[in-house]
Amino acid sequence: MMNVRAGITALGAYAPPKVVTNEDLEKIMDTSDEWIRTRTGIRRRHVAGDDEFTSDMAFRSVEDLVRRYGEEALEGVDLVIVATNTPDALFPATASLVQHRFGLHAGAFDLLAACPGWLYAVSAAKAYVESGQSKKVLAIGAEALTKLINWEDRSTAVLFGDGAGAVIIEPVEEPYGIAPMVLGSDGAGGGLLHAGAIGRCLPDGTNLTDKLFMNGREVYKFAVRVMDTATLEAIEKAGLVPDDIELFVPHQANLRIIDAARERLGLAPERVVVTVDEYGNNSTASIPLAMTHALDEGRMKDGDRILLVSFGGGLSWAAGVLTWGGGRYPNRVQAG
Ligand code: ACO
Repeated sequence: MMNVRAGITALGAYAPPKVVTNEDLEKIMDTSDEWIRTRTGIRRRHVAGDDEFTSDMAFRSVEDLVRRYGEEALEGVDLVIVATNTPDALFPATASLVQHRFGLHAGAFDLLAACPGWLYAVSAAKAYVESGQSKKVLAIGAEALTKLINWEDRSTAVLFGDGAGAVIIEPVEEPYGIAPMVLGSDGAGGGLLHAGAIGRCLPDGTNLTDKLFMNGREVYKFAVRVMDTATLEAIEKAGLVPDDIELFVPHQANLRIIDAARERLGLAPERVVVTVDEYGNNSTASIPLAMTHALDEGRMKDGDRILLVSFGGGLSWAAGVLTWGGGRYPNRVQAG
């Protein structure tokens, strides 16, 4: 099939109702609201309940999408991809649970690429749609990262939250749709950020851990560098210049990293979506959740060029520009 362009036509999101504030953390570890806010921009994070897992949050994000766009948004979905680092189990795939829950006649697989996993899922969905292999893909980022937190390690425990975001990716007419994306990986940095080990070490001798480990300083330097290079590359691949970008929706890990990227791109603060203050870093859920907020706030308008970028363990990164609009669900409502 020639000249098919994939675009995002529907969005939904979910954050668990349980909120943990910086003040709550002050009571259980040696930290302070002031330290967390000034170093990261985080004020609160939403945390999955003890009996709430990634599949539950993925379901809720799809239910939110259906509330907004109607059942017809799921009609014809032939592939489900769930990007997650915290599946309920290694198998069955969380995506298969979603397929069954919504009665979809669809293939299903999970995709694991740390925090940029959802952008990797978008790029995979784009390729499936544009090649004609799939007509409609449900691409979800869902994360229960707080279940991997070492609550004794204050340098990581304060950073993360849980949540989910779901989108429909299907053909749209140009100029709408997703431009060619940037995907990158540098496995030499694998030891800087890891979790969920099944008992081995890396070739460089790093012992992989069960609970989340992060070398914050090194990941910070990597993040600032790659947010800069990957965004510029994605903008160039879209045939644009930074000033053409109407909205920047970066991975929500740290406000300082977001600000550094925004400044390098020369974008005004009002062109950037920030939700890290409310949710912390919820990994694969962070960008679709932030986009859903931006949509609800009326910040994503027809024809807007939206820049997305993420980075994380692997080390890995991804970026892309999409032109918003072209969706076919006119009865969209704002979910309450
Ligand atoms: N409360 C109070 N003090 C703390 C805390 C805390 N929660 N955590 C660390 N500190 C202390 C440290 O012990 C250190 O004290 P010392 O100087 O006496 O040794 C001091 O604060 C400074 O520590 P740094 O690590 O240098 O602090 P930094 O300014 O680098 O901020 C942070 C740390 C926020 C983790 C930062 O490095 C960062 O954001 N890194 C990137 C993290 C990130 O974006 N990760 C994304 C991962 S995505 C994925 O795939 C999961």
